[in-house]
Amino acid sequence: VDELSSRLARVVGPDQVITDRAVLAGYETDWTGRFAGRARLVVRPADRDEVAGVLLVCRDARVAVVPQGGNTGLVGGGVPRDGEVVLSLRRLDRLGPVDPIAGQVTVGAGATLAAVRRHAAAAGLDFGVDLAARESATIGGMVNTNAGGIRVLRWGSMRAQVVGAEAVLTDGRVLRRLAGLPKDSTGYDLVGTLVGSEGTLAVLTAVRLRLVPRPRRQVTATLAVADTVAAQRVLASVRAGVPGLTSAEIFYADGLRIVCDTQSIAPPFRTSYTTYLLVDFGAEDDPTPALAAALASRDDVLDSAIATDEAARRTLWAHRDGHTEAVNTLGVPLKLDVGVPAPALAEFEHELRAIVEVAGARLVLFGHLAEGNFHANVIGAHDPDTLTDAVMRAVARYGGTISAEHGVGVAKARWLPLVRSPVELELMAATKRAWDPDGLLNPGVLLPR
Ligand code: MLT
Ligand code: ZN
Repeated sequence: VDELSSRLARVVGPDQVITDRAVLAGYETDWTGRFAGRARLVVRPADRDEVAGVLLVCRDARVAVVPQGGNTGLVGGGVPRDGEVVLSLRRLDRLGPVDPIAGQVTVGAGATLAAVRRHAAAAGLDFGVDLAARESATIGGMVNTNAGGIRVLRWGSMRAQVVGAEAVLTDGRVLRRLAGLPKDSTGYDLVGTLVGSEGTLAVLTAVRLRLVPRPRRQVTATLAVADTVAAQRVLASVRAGVPGLTSAEIFYADGLRIVCDTQSIAPPFRTSYTTYLLVDFGAEDDPTPALAAALASRDDVLDSAIATDEAARRTLWAHRDGHTEAVNTLGVPLKLDVGVPAPALAEFEHELRAIVEVAGARLVLFGHLAEGNFHANVIGAHDPDTLTDAVMRAVARYGGTISAEHGVGVAKARWLPLVRSPVELELMAATKRAWDPDGLLNPGVLLPR
């Protein structure tokens, strides 16, 4: 046992310092298999004070630290690269009491999204963000990437849910702001600075979250349409005419076929269509009559499947939720999570398909239509960097973002200057220096080295 391990063992206990290479493997590779590196060791503190102890030991030993939650990240932001200590937050999974008056709860950074949703449901409430990796993704990781998911059009991304946080700086000092005051007009938003900081500023240990009402009636519909523009038109009409629109997800024939084949499930319709729009509503009164009325007058809806009971809704959602795992069965995907303004989406899609085709690769496209957020999953790219560069430049030209909800990580740090001005990059670098002067936290992530 080396000196660092024994010092860390004194902080967290010997069982919580992992050096066994076989066990380390689960922490060293990201979900896609694209990003992997060696960890010096993994340390699993139980609480904030142990996190502070770990950071002090690492700072003293001048060892870089990679904070990690559920390891569901897709941009290499939570896995080691070159002998760092991986600081796993999974054990900080405490769920505080739900405050029904404020509609808030404080949870540990390592609590999973699913656990938080179940906890809120027990109090008659819900959490505003949801996404397919819910059983493993942790709140801390989701704050650090400003995760979005499938309900952003209704409740916003993680940024809109965070009303307080507790975090530890590399010198062991603690920033604690967990009161969750709905009104607080007192200067710089330091908690807000941590949202989307990708573990580069401080180690998040707890978060105070806003909760949202649980809708009494829910309805899900999968609609077949001709193309992305038609899907946008239908979205606009149900947005205006049907109460409680919560999700609007798009996928295409190719992706649906892979999902159905790999998961042995039936498609929504007997006929195959080019484009599918999944819409989900939650409201006090059943939105189904309004939905039926909105769809009845439209000749651009080629087919529809509507579900109101839980099991049937889940069946429709499986076509969409299954994409990520289905894509992985084709090989290690190049995942480009991008967003462009709605009016540019169809033109951008056209260009994206052309870029991938010219590269001789295969594109599986799906995403969150209301935010113009496409997930371009590319299989078989011979030169991923050149392809990524072409897509990132196209995104920037359309006034979009190189990362809509997955974060920058190591995957896209190089391209950040395409979408952030020199002034912004200088302020970001100065922010990094102020919080983490020794550059110990997640080096190489977010900001180009
Ligand atoms: C999703 O929308 O399913 C997630 O962002 C994961 C992915 O892009 O594969
Ligand atoms: Zn997504």
